[in-house]
Amino acid sequence: MFTLKPIAVCASMLTVAPAALAQVPQFGQPIAPADIASWDISIGPDGAGLPPGRGTAIEGEAIYVAKCQACHGEKGIKPSVALAGALVGGMGTLAPDKTPIKTVGSYWPYATTLFDYTRRAMPFQESKSLTADEAYAVSAYILNLNGIVGSNDVIDAQSLPKVRMPNQDGFIPFPRNPK
Ligand code: HEC
Repeated sequence: MFTLKPIAVCASMLTVAPAALAQVPQFGQPIAPADIASWDISIGPDGAGLPPGRGTAIEGEAIYVAKCQACHGEKGIKPSVALAGALVGGMGTLAPDKTPIKTVGSYWPYATTLFDYTRRAMPFQESKSLTADEAYAVSAYILNLNGIVGSNDVIDAQSLPKVRMPNQDGFIPFPRNPK
């Protein structure tokens, strides 16, 4: 008895379906390459896709204080917004006998990700507002606070992919499509 009702519903769907399929959605339009370009900003670990521009940690400090510090805290150590997370410190804490503190410095395997993430997602309330120079400079500043680059090192499309992150070898690669 209880199965009768679903069967009746299915039967009615079958009769409606061909009419619905015949309709073409009447919304949307072809997207222009220029509109795609502003979203097509992914940077590979090898730096593929990095834009022209440059910055140093010294230049990045002022940008950080103005646009990042309110949430991530002075020198990136103690965030005032808990979700924002610390950007600096925690080196050597990703070990079996320690409490892990995951930051850009202690955890992230590629420096290029810092540029990519900052440019696309930060500042949180105004994402994609930084120029390439600002994103390079503030990335340089965060890397410098972590002791990874010098304060006057020029960070750009050539130098950023060469920055070696402390935890680069701390990941176990696995094949996504094992045969
Ligand atoms: C209004 C608060 C706010 C401001 C301002 C802000 N952030 Fe963030 N940030 C966040 C939050 C919240 C997250 C976590 C987002 C998430 O997990 O989805 C985050 C995450 C990050 C991360 C990733 C941290 C990790 O380990 O996962 C980086 C890097 C970062 N922010 C850099 C910056 C930089 C650089 C600036 C300035 C240009 C900035 N943020 C400004 C709130 C902020």
